[in-house]
Amino acid sequence: MEDFQAYWQVAVSRVDQALDRYMPASDLVEERLHEAMRYSVFAGGKRLRPLLCLTVAQACGLSEEALLPAACALEMVHTYSLIHDDLPAMDDDDYRRGKLTNHKVFGEATALLAGDALLTCAFETLLASDVPASSLVLMVKELAQASGAAGMIGGQMGDMAAEGRAVTRTELESIHARKTGALLLASARIPVIAAGCDDVTTRAVTAYAKAIGLAFQIQDDVLDVSGDPVKMGKSVGADVSHDKATFPSLIGLTASRQLIHELTKQAVEVIVRTPHLQSERLVQLAEYLRSRDR
Ligand code: IPE
Ligand code: IPE
Ligand code: MG
Ligand code: MG
Ligand code: MG
Repeated sequence: MEDFQAYWQVAVSRVDQALDRYMPASDLVEERLHEAMRYSVFAGGKRLRPLLCLTVAQACGLSEEALLPAACALEMVHTYSLIHDDLPAMDDDDYRRGKLTNHKVFGEATALLAGDALLTCAFETLLASDVPASSLVLMVKELAQASGAAGMIGGQMGDMAAEGRAVTRTELESIHARKTGALLLASARIPVIAAGCDDVTTRAVTAYAKAIGLAFQIQDDVLDVSGDPVKMGKSVGADVSHDKATFPSLIGLTASRQLIHELTKQAVEVIVRTPHLQSERLVQLAEYLRSRDR
């Protein structure tokens, strides 16, 4: 795992350099908007979505370089979703990535606009990918569907609608699959589209990403109950105080941890039995996520 951590760190620094190139400079008009966009992007996230994208690209035999714009686009969409998720009208959080949330520093109106601008900047950045136009169109479609009403935004709506009421396990899985799973799934499928993988590989990567995507949000729920706010860079306990629908509240902490374990095992199994995929890093990624504490 030390080797994997080093691999992750190298990827993070490449992604950060690329983000710096693709994000508008902070001294452009309107300066405050650009400063707010950069504030949250460079506040110190784990860069999981870019890492997943680049790791799948590598597993499919693609160069990392060709997918760097896509990796940055995914991080822009994700960061925008966090800025809006933290707003008082939504989860009303004061800390994110170890710093004050965007609206606490820049005000709610600027935070809304910084999020909006990151979303559009993401699509502009994705278009810089060095892949044939016929693949690019499908990559744009994948990101648009994952981010929109049928994906992440629908999931956020479902998350709010579920506050304070009883949900079934099927409903909760659907919320998690959309609010968090959809963008992770797109992160894994965009390189598959770029590489023009066969159906067997596409199905395997899809199943892998769905399993780690659900495990990831269950772990996020678990960490909100049992995690260390300093390590995570965000407050804990907020899900209980907002009466959110989460896996620990539905099935308990022990069963939630067991489920993360099972989903990780499923993800690993599907990847190792797929021919033509260099699976080692994808296996390590799934296992690393299971034990994450931030
Ligand atoms: C937090 O995502 C929000 C969820 C979708 C669970 P991450 O845990 O990936 O947050 P960063 O990017 O590291 O800040
Ligand atoms: C956030 O889920 C999902 C999106 C931002 C799309 P959470 O609300 O559980 O994420 P945290 O716990 O605030 O990071
Ligand atoms: Mg939320
Ligand atoms: Mg939140
Ligand atoms: Mg959470």
